[in-house]
Amino acid sequence: FSVENIRNFSIIAHVDHGKSTLADRLLELTGTIDKTKNNKQVLDKLQVERERGITVKAQTASLFYNCEGKQYLLNLIDTPGHVDFSYEVSRSLSACQGVLLVVDANEGIQAQTVANFFLAFEAQLSIIPVINKVDLKNADPERVEKQIEKVFDIPSDECIKISAKLGTNVERVLQAVIERIPPPKVHRKNPFKALVFDSTFDQYRGVIANVALFDGVVSKGDKIVSAHTKKTYEVNEVGVLNPNEQPAHKLYAGQVGYLIAGMKDVTEAQIGDTLYLHKQPVEPLPGFKSAKPMVFAGMYPIDQSEYNNLKSAVEKLTINDSSVTVHRDSSLALGAGWRLGFLGLLHMEVFNQRLEQEYNASVILTTPTVPYKAVLSSAKLIKEYREKEITIINPAQFPDKSKVTEYLEPVVLGTIITPDEYTGKVMMLCQARRAVQKNMMYIDQNRVMLKYLFPLNEIVVDFYDSLKSLSSGYARDKAHSVGKAICERLKDSLPRQLFEIAIQAAVGSKIIARETVKAYRKNVLAKCYGGDITRKMKLLKRQAEGKKKLRKIGNIEVPKDAFIKVLKTQ
Ligand code: GTP
Repeated sequence: FSVENIRNFSIIAHVDHGKSTLADRLLELTGTIDKTKNNKQVLDKLQVERERGITVKAQTASLFYNCEGKQYLLNLIDTPGHVDFSYEVSRSLSACQGVLLVVDANEGIQAQTVANFFLAFEAQLSIIPVINKVDLKNADPERVEKQIEKVFDIPSDECIKISAKLGTNVERVLQAVIERIPPPKVHRKNPFKALVFDSTFDQYRGVIANVALFDGVVSKGDKIVSAHTKKTYEVNEVGVLNPNEQPAHKLYAGQVGYLIAGMKDVTEAQIGDTLYLHKQPVEPLPGFKSAKPMVFAGMYPIDQSEYNNLKSAVEKLTINDSSVTVHRDSSLALGAGWRLGFLGLLHMEVFNQRLEQEYNASVILTTPTVPYKAVLSSAKLIKEYREKEITIINPAQFPDKSKVTEYLEPVVLGTIITPDEYTGKVMMLCQARRAVQKNMMYIDQNRVMLKYLFPLNEIVVDFYDSLKSLSSGYARDKAHSVGKAICERLKDSLPRQLFEIAIQAAVGSKIIARETVKAYRKNVLAKCYGGDITRKMKLLKRQAEGKKKLRKIGNIEVPKDAFIKVLKTQ
């Protein structure tokens, strides 16, 4: 492919606005995946991603597309959608020249749309606004068009209105990618230079680094160096992502693909790193920084005899995720464990869920905290600690007040978009959380966008829930009776399962009604003749373990008519 016929782009969106659905349609339209198979969100590979419906790790695919007689190579770089992963988003974006900014035609611009827009804007990318879900009954694409014009200063006639679900107008998106996004600026004759924008770990093949080639060519057998670690490796395999790995002889500048070179864990191929040839060193690409954990929590095995199993599970998971930091820790009450650092709360939850699902581990997590810095008060102390500022990741390790002149805490710039009737309440909540207002504007007749500087510690755990319950407060008077009625109806229509099911109605995080469907006990002993008590115990234990898991994953069989019954009689 000549460079003129290559386009590198990403899809960015607020959670649930339809990024993965659009990616699936683009893959189908270009024949990359088969339409007939069940392709629901092929790019969301991890089980956690499918369950939560969120994208955690970036996945990439190369698409071939014919337009007016010319073959194009379109590299779609799928970015994670959640705020915790915005560092990964910004790195993926540096491999692109343009983005599709997807906005839900019903919900309009949301906080994450704004954050992602600015990442793309700062990276000077071409931005194609795509208004999705126009098939929804309440869709109001004209209103969203106006919001886009007002907030991002993009003329409304540049918006493409689609339904990713139905495939309506998706072809137009591909044409816009070709027309509006420039080809990458690369030099094939220069020495090889590539950006690592993602990496995964494969048990058998080691680290698979996803790379975008800025200059030159790379092939099997080349000796390459990581600019960050300065380690040298021999390339074992290169290839393209379709979206599964497909080996190739060479990768050329302008292409996006993968590279395997005997790296043992993902800390050796960190996102944002530059790779170059051992014999032709080059200036690394700008902007690399290691992802910094911002939320710390203690993790302990529920049973200390599980310590070694858990240790190996944590090690295996961190091989795949270099942004988690691990320090050994112990507590009088909970025994030996670790203090783990995560990019954010969701990152922590996903890590925990993967431990449970992929390694069958049960753990206790302590309430998350953020790192603080203490500025030391005397030269003697500075010498002792070998630093002027010390970072504290565990509240138990706060230094004595007399040793410190100043404490520093992390702050974040937050964007809140709210219907204007709640503006007063939202502002009060923000003030109560020690936030400083930075900006306020109307994005349409009755929606307000607020920007605040928040101390991270004030918002890390329950801010979102508080915010949500503020705006649903109007429903609370009636909520209790409605909640109770729905719970009762659900209780009557759900069949008993192997485990007890709690049905709860909640407003925000507040539970307002509860019913229980009792468990029935499957007779696992039915197959067990005679009196072998150990075998019986084993079966019962297995059943108990199974129950624990089932209830957690929430594999409740809900008959279709239960939904109907619950929704019908209000
Ligand atoms: P994250 O990966 O979490 O960022 O979500 P996403 O932006 O990838 O959203 P996803 O594609 O998972 O879509 C979210 C939900 O919206 C799913 O239930 C989709 O079926 C639905 N959806 C996506 N596109 C459309 C559309 O055009 N019309 C309608 N009605 N629903 C859609």
